[in-house]
Amino acid sequence: MTQAEGGACLLDRPTDPCTIVILGASGDLTTRKLLPALYSLHLKGGLPDPFRIVGCSRTPMTDEQFRGRMEAAVGEAGHDMTAWGPFRENLHYRAVVYDSPGSYRDLAAWLREVDSASGTPGNRIFYLALPMFLYGTAARLLGDAGLAAENSGGNGWTRIVVEKPYGSDRRSAAELDSVIHGAFQEKQIFRIDHYLAKETVQNILMLRFANAIFEPLWNRNFIEHVDIIASETLGVEKRAGYYDRAGVLRDMFQNHMLQLLALTAMEPPNRFESDSVHDEKVKVFKSLRPFPVKNLFENIVLGQYGPGTVDGEPVRGYRQEEGVDTASMTPTYAMMQVFIDNWRWQGVPFFITSGKRLGAKLTEIAIRFKEVPVSMFRETLGDHISANVLTMGIQPMEHITLTFQAKSPGAKLCLRTVRMDFDFMQGFSGPALAAYEKALLDCMNGDQMLFWRSDGIDLAWAFMEPIIRECETCKDRQSLLRTYEPGSWGPPAAVQLKDLMLQQCR
Ligand code: BG6
Repeated sequence: MTQAEGGACLLDRPTDPCTIVILGASGDLTTRKLLPALYSLHLKGGLPDPFRIVGCSRTPMTDEQFRGRMEAAVGEAGHDMTAWGPFRENLHYRAVVYDSPGSYRDLAAWLREVDSASGTPGNRIFYLALPMFLYGTAARLLGDAGLAAENSGGNGWTRIVVEKPYGSDRRSAAELDSVIHGAFQEKQIFRIDHYLAKETVQNILMLRFANAIFEPLWNRNFIEHVDIIASETLGVEKRAGYYDRAGVLRDMFQNHMLQLLALTAMEPPNRFESDSVHDEKVKVFKSLRPFPVKNLFENIVLGQYGPGTVDGEPVRGYRQEEGVDTASMTPTYAMMQVFIDNWRWQGVPFFITSGKRLGAKLTEIAIRFKEVPVSMFRETLGDHISANVLTMGIQPMEHITLTFQAKSPGAKLCLRTVRMDFDFMQGFSGPALAAYEKALLDCMNGDQMLFWRSDGIDLAWAFMEPIIRECETCKDRQSLLRTYEPGSWGPPAAVQLKDLMLQQCR
C-alpha cells in the first residue's frame, strides 16, 4: 500500500506475469465473483502483463464458448464492457475431470507448452472454486502432476487459493490441511476469508494503530462491552445444500466473526507484515475463554427464521426454502457472549451476533465505553448519562462514528447525544477495491496477511467446535432454537439475555 497525494492509495500492480487457473470455472463463484473481480482489476490497471485466466471444469467447452459465458457474467455484474476486447484474449478453457490424475497431467503439459510458447515464467495461482469435498483431491492431484512445485519443471512460483468452508469441524479442517500440506507449503496456501479483504475491515487496524488517541482507551479500564454484528436481509437463497449442514455458527462465526473479533482485540504487531499480524491474532484465539457449553441457555441464543412478510412481500420460512429439510434444526441466527482472558480484556464481554433474514444488511463493530463514574449533573439531569460509543461501520455504510454528550443550546441545562461521523469514501478519489479484487491482487503479490493461517483456522475451530457440538446434540435442542420473524432483529430472547449478561458484568 502506498500513500499518495490527496490520501488516495495507489494500487500495487503485480509485477510478475502469471496465470490463474480456476478449478470450478462453470460454477457460481466464478461467474458472480471471480471473473467480475478480475475484469474490474483489468479496468483499474491492476493486472500483471502478461496475464492469463484458465477456466477448468468438467463441462467440455471451447475457449470461445468460455469467453462468451464469462462476457455475459461480467456484463451482468454491471461493468463497463468497453475494455472487454483485449481482456477476452487472456481467457482460455480446459476441461478437467477433478478426480482423474491424467487430467491434471494433461493440464500440466498444456500449461508448460503455453508458458514456453509465450516466454512466461510459469507463475501460477490455482483457485479452488470447487465444492468443499473436492478441495483435498484437487490439491493432491495438482501436487502429483508436478503443479505444486515451485521454480522447477517449467513452474515459477505456485500458489493455491482455498475458499471457505475450510472443513466442517476441527478434525476435517486438520485433515484437509494435512492433504494440502502434502503438496503445498504454508507460504503457498491462501485460505480466503472475504471479510478480511473488505476495505473497512482492513481499516480497523489503521484506526487502532495509526492513531495515538484510541489505544490508551482500548481496554478493560475504559470499555464496557463490544458488539460485533453481521446481519443480512437475504435468506438462504440457493445454498441450502451447504447451509443446512453448516448453519450460522459454521458459516459466519467460525470465520468472519472471529476475524472481526481478533482485529478488534489483538495487540499491536511490531510490524505491519503478514506473520506478525497473524501471530497477534493467534494470541487472541488462544486467549478465548472456553465457552460454558453446559450452560448454553445462559450464554447463547439461536434462532431460525419463520415465514412472514418483508416490505409487504410474503417470504418463506427457512424450513420452506428450496432444499431445506422441513424439520431442519439448523440455526440461521446466533447471538453469543465471548470473553478474552488476557490483561487487556479481562471481564469485557464481546457480544457477537449474526443472522439471515434480519431487518437490515449491516456489519459493524461498536465499542461501548464505560459511563462517567459519577454524574455532576445528577441533580438536574438524573444519574444516567449515555456512554460514548465508537462504531466502525463495515458495510453497507462504511464509516466511523463517535457519539458523545454535548450541551443543548439554550438557557436550560440539557444534554444531548451527538455524533462525529467519518464517511470512509470522503475526500477519496482513487480506485476502491471490492473484497475479491483485493484478495486476488494480494494473492498475485504473494501477500498472505488477509488470508487465514493454518494455526488460526485450527484455533478458531477449537473454540467453535464444542459450542456447535453442544448446540447440535443437547437434549434441549428444540427449545434452544427460537423462531424469529423475517425482517426483525432476531429472537427477542437475544435482547433479554444480553441485558441480563450485561447486568452480571457491571
Ligand atoms: C459468506 C457466507 O461467507 O458470507 C454467506 O457463506 C453470507 O452465508 C456471506 O451471506 C456474507 O457476506 P457479505 O460480504 O455479503 O457480508
